[in-house]
Amino acid sequence: MAQVAIRDYGVDVEVNEGQSLLSSILEAGLEIVHECGGNGRCGTCSVIVLEGAETLTPPNFPEQEVLRLRRKAEDARLSCRLCPSAPITVQIHREAHHRSS
Ligand code: FES
Repeated sequence: MAQVAIRDYGVDVEVNEGQSLLSSILEAGLEIVHECGGNGRCGTCSVIVLEGAETLTPPNFPEQEVLRLRRKAEDARLSCRLCPSAPITVQIHREAHHRSS
C-alpha cells in the first residue's frame, strides 16, 4: 500500500498493491475526468508527479505515446496506469477535474 498526497484537494489517498491511482482517487470521492474509463487511451486522467517520481516505474511505450500525443508535461503520468508502491505527491491536471459546465 502506498500513500499518495493529492495536492489540489489537500488529502491523501491509499493505493493498494495492484490498484491504480485513478481507482483510489475515485474511491476517495474526488473528481477526475477519465473519459476512456481507465483504459490508458484518452489522457484525461493525467496527473503531475510533484514528489517521489524516482520511486515509480517509468511509463511504458503506450503510456508514453498517449502523454506525447496529448501534449502532457514531461512529469505527467496517467493515473489509470500508475500503481505507486511508495509515497508520492501529485497534482491533478486542471483539465482532469470535472468540467463544471
Ligand atoms: S482514463 Fe483514459 S487514459 Fe486514463
